[in-house]
Amino acid sequence: MSKHKHKKTEAFDFNGGWDYSPSPESTGHVKLKERYDLYIDGEFVAPNSGKYFQTTNPATEKVLAEVAHADESDVDKAVKAARKAYENVWSKLSAKERGKYIYRIARLMQEKARELAVVETLDAGKTIRESRDVDVPLACNHFFYYAGWADKLEYAFPNRNVSALGVTGQIIPWNFPLLMAAWKIAPALAAGNTVVLKPAETTPLTAMLLAEIIHESGLPAGVVNILTGYGDTGAAIVNHPDINKIAFTGSTNVGKIIQKAVAGTGKKLTLELGGKSANIIFEDAPIDQAVEGIVNGIFFNQGHVCCAGSRLFVQESVADEVIQKLKDRLDTLYVGDPLDKNTDIGAINSKEQLETIRKYIKIGKDEGASMYESSCELPKKGYFVRPTLFTDVAQSSRIAQEEIFGPVLTIQTFRTIDEVIQKANNSPYGLAAGVWTDKGSRIFNMTSKLRAGVIWANTYNKFDPTSPFGGYKESGFGREGGLQGLGAYLKIER
Ligand code: NAI
Ligand code: MG
Repeated sequence: MSKHKHKKTEAFDFNGGWDYSPSPESTGHVKLKERYDLYIDGEFVAPNSGKYFQTTNPATEKVLAEVAHADESDVDKAVKAARKAYENVWSKLSAKERGKYIYRIARLMQEKARELAVVETLDAGKTIRESRDVDVPLACNHFFYYAGWADKLEYAFPNRNVSALGVTGQIIPWNFPLLMAAWKIAPALAAGNTVVLKPAETTPLTAMLLAEIIHESGLPAGVVNILTGYGDTGAAIVNHPDINKIAFTGSTNVGKIIQKAVAGTGKKLTLELGGKSANIIFEDAPIDQAVEGIVNGIFFNQGHVCCAGSRLFVQESVADEVIQKLKDRLDTLYVGDPLDKNTDIGAINSKEQLETIRKYIKIGKDEGASMYESSCELPKKGYFVRPTLFTDVAQSSRIAQEEIFGPVLTIQTFRTIDEVIQKANNSPYGLAAGVWTDKGSRIFNMTSKLRAGVIWANTYNKFDPTSPFGGYKESGFGREGGLQGLGAYLKIER
């Protein structure tokens, strides 16, 4: 079994696996600025406070750039610009013309795909394979998909009167920085709204590159405004009286604060929050594929995925086999330099998140669960965690109930369908689930009984712009993607 850190193998041994030479993606073509300002009313402007903060590369702990910290007065300026653009320009433009701008943004993003992928990896710590093959192409596809709807709203919602909401405020997290910006901006524009968006404090750079792309597209000034900052900047957006809709993706705690703040104001709200999703393996499942699905479900993006398959349920008769195969597979995962094309697990997004994950690993041990981690070496610098499994996990334990948001999987077994449905639904969350079985009827039975917004059958973590995504219970409400995601940015009347 490969223990890697790019060790040389003497003979070609197909049974024992082999190691790869390092294959780092070049960064020579990327020119980051030292400092990024706010994008308000079609211009890059310094924040009123004059304050900036640093964003770092979590794989090296090196500072990448400084970004502006917008305060309430900057937010007010951006909302005024967005209102003026909505009233005077964007709502007056024909839907067909609005669509053309969205297509243009999508095409410019494609042209700069390589730069966007490298910067995403530098700023967020996610592997280049993922930012190159998943985040950036999907982000482009969201713009393409919603561009197509811009002039077809009456077909999207037949026999209804649809109209834009006005100014939308959008706050996004650090796990899929560019992709979440695309999920938010593309449907808002297609529906005819204007935007004030705030990226997360640890991952602002691709949003600022997107601001440059939007600027280059010639989108009328004020239609999209991008403001970097911390939670206080987000709160200023949420509390601004002249915003018609808030869309938030992030933690359940902040989601609750926002829901309270918005209550009674007439602002429309969608919340996409945390999760603790069940990945369920039945004894008749194709076991090897299921093991790959488990790995993808929890280790994709270092486990920083709201719909991560973080609770594994394995039918008792195949539990030993699945757990052994999973442990073997864990040992083959490359953890390290996110820019290396061979890397499977990159850096944890921030020091704070690393501490949270370590805290939960300790809680798991203290609660009496059995821990297994891969034996790979970790880089000396940067924030890294070995992929980790817990067996002998009690349903009531904190590691089985609370979102860890890292490469940590809890494993429980079950005997009957009723038992696993009950256990899977026994969670404050309800975002996603996976079901692995050979039986089609069982898949339909499970999908109707699991309280989760998205259910994958014999696969996991598959995303497409046409497909709605969102949760139940503490995972939030409202859907993003597809027609449902478009409807969330429209007033729909009879
Ligand atoms: P967070 O919810 O604090 O951050 C998300 C976004 O909200 C950021 O842009 C942040 O600046 C902004 N924000 C923070 N406070 C705000 C406020 N009062 N009003 C408006 N906006 C505000 O998430 P955080 O602290 O970075 O992560 C903590 C935990 O949240 C993670 O360990 C994970 O469990 C969960 N999380 C879930 C995400 C998801 O995709 N569902 C994404 C990020 C975090
Ligand atoms: Mg960063």
